[in-house]
Amino acid sequence: MNQLLKSIIENNRRYALEGKVASYIPSLAKANAEHLGICVATLDGKEFSAGDCDVKFTIQSISKVISLMVAILDNGTKNVFSKVGMEPTGDSFNSIMSLEVKNPQKPFNPMINAGAIATTALISGDSLEEKFEKIINFTRKITGNDEININEEVYLSERVTGDRNRALAYFMKSNKLIEGDVEEILDLYFRQCAIEGTCRDIARIAAMLANDGILPWSGERVISREVSRIVKTIMVTCGMYDASGEFAVHIGIPAKSGVGGGILAAVPRRMGIGVFGPALDAKGNTIAGIQVLQELSKELDLSIF
Ligand code: DON
Repeated sequence: MNQLLKSIIENNRRYALEGKVASYIPSLAKANAEHLGICVATLDGKEFSAGDCDVKFTIQSISKVISLMVAILDNGTKNVFSKVGMEPTGDSFNSIMSLEVKNPQKPFNPMINAGAIATTALISGDSLEEKFEKIINFTRKITGNDEININEEVYLSERVTGDRNRALAYFMKSNKLIEGDVEEILDLYFRQCAIEGTCRDIARIAAMLANDGILPWSGERVISREVSRIVKTIMVTCGMYDASGEFAVHIGIPAKSGVGGGILAAVPRRMGIGVFGPALDAKGNTIAGIQVLQELSKELDLSIF
């Protein structure tokens, strides 16, 4: 497996040259566009990796999967989906348009920015710190990595420049889709986006989802089989934003991307995969990372369809 992963990384490195690192969050522009790494975590606890698999990156939108799980654990599925939908959009991840023109005006799904902000707003706690502790502790548990933390610089960089998300959040507050202190909700959202990890951490979260909610390395159940099923289904339809359809056809694995260059991909009952390559395509997904997943999916026949 290590040999296979190594050759797939080398075969696809050239695609990174066709992409661009994200720069709308200024501190992400410092990433090395040539990095490319992968880690595979199997359900019997084995891990395989290749390329730049030990380089840390901020998980960005991959955190939407985490906050969705925490919000469901706190509120139940029914309450969460009364505030956010389950439908793909076909629009970009930070689109404002559909919030106003659709009826009911709730965000389409928890994987786009508006939907994730609404989901994060549901996480309970007496203070911002307590809510954040809940998210970070859950992340440490599902990665098996107690050292998981946030990248302060990226967090502050997004907090200063995140006016698009501010617009989404204030619009939702005016429509009573979110309640409470908008700046505090945004702060929590910016922190979760700045959680830092490696391909290995991402592969472990994916392995838990692939294993129906049980941590493969300890046997501990962290979410129900039902919640795991719902999260993976939403990843298939919405996880790659307006590229979800194409990704389903070519790769066929429940997945979630982030503008830090990561993708979390959970192959039900087989394996968790984490890939990382900061050069992105026009839709905000890692350009070489997608090629890597495509080759791996073909090679090991991983499509669920
Ligand atoms: O809110 C944002 O714009 C970023 N913190 C996360 C966006 C993101 O990762 C979209 N992913 N492809």
